[in-house]
Amino acid sequence: MVIASAPGKVILFGEHAVVYGKPAIAAAITKRIYVKSRRIDSGIQIFSEDKTESSIEYVKHAIELVIGTKRMKKQGIDVTIDSELPVGGGLGSSAALSVATIKSVSTLLGVDLGKEEIARLGREVESKVQGASSGIDPFVSTYGGAIYYRDGRFDRQQINPLSIVIGYTGSPSSTKNMISNVSHLREKYPKIIDHIFDVIGDISERAKIILDASNRRFETRKSKICDESGDLNENELGDLMNLNNGLLEALGVSSFSLSNLVNASLLAGALGAKITGAGGGGCIFALSSGREKEVSTAIKMAGGVPIPVEISFDGVRLEPNSRKNII
Ligand code: MEV
Repeated sequence: MVIASAPGKVILFGEHAVVYGKPAIAAAITKRIYVKSRRIDSGIQIFSEDKTESSIEYVKHAIELVIGTKRMKKQGIDVTIDSELPVGGGLGSSAALSVATIKSVSTLLGVDLGKEEIARLGREVESKVQGASSGIDPFVSTYGGAIYYRDGRFDRQQINPLSIVIGYTGSPSSTKNMISNVSHLREKYPKIIDHIFDVIGDISERAKIILDASNRRFETRKSKICDESGDLNENELGDLMNLNNGLLEALGVSSFSLSNLVNASLLAGALGAKITGAGGGGCIFALSSGREKEVSTAIKMAGGVPIPVEISFDGVRLEPNSRKNII
């Protein structure tokens, strides 16, 4: 029996545009999916509290791809999923599930896969189930930390501690449907939608400059044995989040609940707030800048669920077999 886990993520900037080759920034979060696999005589059995079709699809494709890497004959495998992430919540649950399954099943079958290969297979699973995938979710889930991502290539993005609050609408959404809606809109208005993607890409580039500059100041101060923060330009970062969110609204991926949570967070003093992930439901996140309590309360009052998270520097990993919460 092998247990592996992988983290969910928030996309800080650039979702949807990243599917069309524009840059985006994402970070892994401290909420994970655990996948336990063991050999059985024949067939594939999947046990999950969430029995959605798509979760089963992600797991089946992940197992097939692992078996395919060594052209093995069909294997009997039983998989049990335990998730700390809301399914379809925009926090990368599908990618975390695919990546953790690939790690767990490949280890069980004695197939040695490096992180690059795991991320690549994770992207293939997403493309099969969703129809299209930029690969950002499986990459960040595999490697952990924060990344600046473009076209299947990524750089590590250093981020000083950010005070963010996630707000879950309570309604899941389908990434596949949201990607398809955006693609239809682009077919109808190619020039306009491509302009929107370009501007979203510019926003991600600008955000990278701010995060890098703040990190350089932070490192300089650390080397002078001083514990001040890096003076992150939070106001500008907040502006960029609001601009990015306006463009996601224009792409039609918002919903009444998402807009409500964004507005409630801003009214409570957040410097910026935006949809994170595919939209249509799922989550927003707010840059709360010392007003975490007020923003969390505002999210609750607006009917959402505040989810406290931090950036996780651990990507996919094997777990000790004794984890109690795996049945
Ligand atoms: C989903 O978390 C992010 C999207 O941009 C899809 C993708 O990048 O594959 C909507």
